[in-house]
Amino acid sequence: MKHYIDFHEDVSFEDLDHLLEIAEDMKAKTKAGIEHHLLKGKSLAMIFTKSSTRTRVSFEVGMYQLGGQALFLSNNDIQIGRGESIYDTAHVLSGMVDGIMIRTFKHSDVEDLAKYGSIPVINGLTDDQHPTQALADLLTIKEHKGGLKGLKLAYVGDGNNVANSLLQACAKAGMDVAIGSPADYTCPDKYVQQALKDAAVTGSKVLMTTDPFEAVEGADVVYTDTWTSMGQEEEKAMRVKIFEKYQVNSKLMSAAHKDAIFMHCLPAYRGYEVTEEVCDGPQSVIFDEAENRLHAHKAILVNCLG
Ligand code: CP
Ligand code: NVA
Repeated sequence: MKHYIDFHEDVSFEDLDHLLEIAEDMKAKTKAGIEHHLLKGKSLAMIFTKSSTRTRVSFEVGMYQLGGQALFLSNNDIQIGRGESIYDTAHVLSGMVDGIMIRTFKHSDVEDLAKYGSIPVINGLTDDQHPTQALADLLTIKEHKGGLKGLKLAYVGDGNNVANSLLQACAKAGMDVAIGSPADYTCPDKYVQQALKDAAVTGSKVLMTTDPFEAVEGADVVYTDTWTSMGQEEEKAMRVKIFEKYQVNSKLMSAAHKDAIFMHCLPAYRGYEVTEEVCDGPQSVIFDEAENRLHAHKAILVNCLG
């Protein structure tokens, strides 16, 4: 049984190549209107204790296109919201569905679901990681740049869940990765060490810096995310001040390669982490990136539930 919870732990170098191949195949089949009911008769429970547009829609539509079904279980509706344990939920769902996708706060809740249940668990975002986003991002970079190995991705802003998974994923893909964040908001050392370990195998570089211009220098991909993640709303005013210097604007983009692409997992807050000019400008691939959630997630579903 395969889980997809942590990019470093659950995706080997070979798995990554394989997942990207399946995603490309899924995308081609979808565009050509070729039926690909690889998960006929299978069900996916989708637990959400945080909001979502892309993750929910892509997993739900993805299961439908694969010939299966998805159940949207919001915190407001299922008994987890009233205190039922992860232990009991894992056992109950294991008896009825073929896999669980969960978006929630505590990363350990996702690990516990996998530990106590007997079906594959997919991490649809926790406070610590966003591994499904990272796969869609690699697919998008591959499409726009023709490959991954040897490219440089610079992530500028909050060293959050999206940054942690990108750090893991880029190192695994043999890409150079630079994180430009304020010292107190950089990625936890655990993820840096994991990335360094994989970078030593793939021959790529990892740079952690507080200088956004140093991070972006020579980058093929410039990436940012919101300064205020879900659950941090009360800190918004403080964070806007802390991250001011880390806005991705035209000046910062000009430190990257001339043909660099701009990426953002979305939702984007124009005027904060990115200017409208960059977010909606010619270098931006944000909507290709969003669409690729569908194709990448289908690859994850086929791999885990197939
Ligand atoms: N990028 C992303 O995960 O979007 P949603 O929060 O809309 O799912
Ligand atoms: N870092 C953001 C990502 C949203 C998809 C958050 O956790 O809110």
